[in-house]
Amino acid sequence: MEKVRIGILGMGTVASGLVNIMSMNRDIIHSRTGKILEIDKVLVKNLHKNRDVDLDQSKFTTDANEIINNENVDIVVELMGGIEPAFEYVRDALLNKKHVVTANKALIATHGEELEGIAVENGVRLMYEASVGGGIPIINTMTNNLSANDFTEISGIVNGTTNYILTQMTERGIELDEAVKEAQEMGFAEADPSSDIEGDDAAYKIAILSYIGFGQRIGLNEVPKEGITHISREDIKYADELGYVIKLIASSQKRENEIELRVHPTFIPKTHPLATVKNEYNAVMLRGNAVGEVMLYGKGAGAMPTGSAVLGDIIAIAKGISSEAKEAIQPLTKRYQVVNKGYSQYYIRMDVVDKPGVLGYISNIFGKNNISLASVVQRYKHDLVAPLVFITHEVERKNINEALQEVRTYGNVLKIASIITVEKSL
Ligand code: HSE
Repeated sequence: MEKVRIGILGMGTVASGLVNIMSMNRDIIHSRTGKILEIDKVLVKNLHKNRDVDLDQSKFTTDANEIINNENVDIVVELMGGIEPAFEYVRDALLNKKHVVTANKALIATHGEELEGIAVENGVRLMYEASVGGGIPIINTMTNNLSANDFTEISGIVNGTTNYILTQMTERGIELDEAVKEAQEMGFAEADPSSDIEGDDAAYKIAILSYIGFGQRIGLNEVPKEGITHISREDIKYADELGYVIKLIASSQKRENEIELRVHPTFIPKTHPLATVKNEYNAVMLRGNAVGEVMLYGKGAGAMPTGSAVLGDIIAIAKGISSEAKEAIQPLTKRYQVVNKGYSQYYIRMDVVDKPGVLGYISNIFGKNNISLASVVQRYKHDLVAPLVFITHEVERKNINEALQEVRTYGNVLKIASIITVEKSL
């Protein structure tokens, strides 16, 4: 039987998942591909570290050239993460006519265009299913099964760490710091959780999905992003009372000649399918003009789910390795203007002095800025400070900003505590 030789760059969580699945499902993979997948070399930093994988010590190397410039290696699997040196290794592997599979969202969101160009020029594949949504087959579904559709919307929960944190804050009433600490102890959040909780991870992923769906590369600086660091227990409590849960949503929408990408915490109606996505799970909703709405749901992180997506790409390449390499995803010809309008309903929470006329004064400012109020909640507090919560009808974010600029100058407003996007019911 023909052998397909694999070189792995990095031996962290996802790589160990990959190696374990290859061994667990060896027979199934043989019968599905008609080939033997064999790990030739694995790049590690430390040759002497104990690893939870069944691989002979002779397979490990600290020299990337033993993979990238190794003529025995057919597929290079990049699982190091980060941009450098992953970018150089992937570029050189493609230039050496090796197929590449990666789970690296930062790399693909930043250098995907250049790397796909090199892959096409060299007749090899660059595949990155695992870069978005862990084990959820979102990229393959969009590029193959749903390729008959003109997509108008891609949105969902694409970061498992923040979803775990927000779920725990919601269900157990704990504060953000405690939930982050717990997520770290459970192995969901990194020691430095900033890329997840500040929204960068989700921004990389929606930029990739937006390219897959709309055929246009979007620079990360064109993705307005807001993380979950300012979400308090109080906002979660109000959300609950008003019939919502708070989720970190990444979205890309196409309208006529415009595309709008955004990452931000969002009030999701409890009846919305995304409200039921909890803990480390991810879900992506697609809207296509033929298929309608489709939601894909599954584990967005972890060794085995992400290893499953990586191995799926390896198998796809292995099946077609002796035939002509397929082309990379091609950009579509139509160009869209990237906008940042933030047209949505909004939740606004503020602390005001509890005395006659204050609510009327603030409502008047909203009215002058064409903001229509959908609901208003005021709680009684005995210390003369009243928390006021507004939910607006749909309006552009600039109207909200302009209104709040004026509200801030009003002496009876003590603090504007939160502004959070509100999603409509489906
Ligand atoms: N850090 C990511 C998450 C997993 O929490 O979803 C890898 O993309």
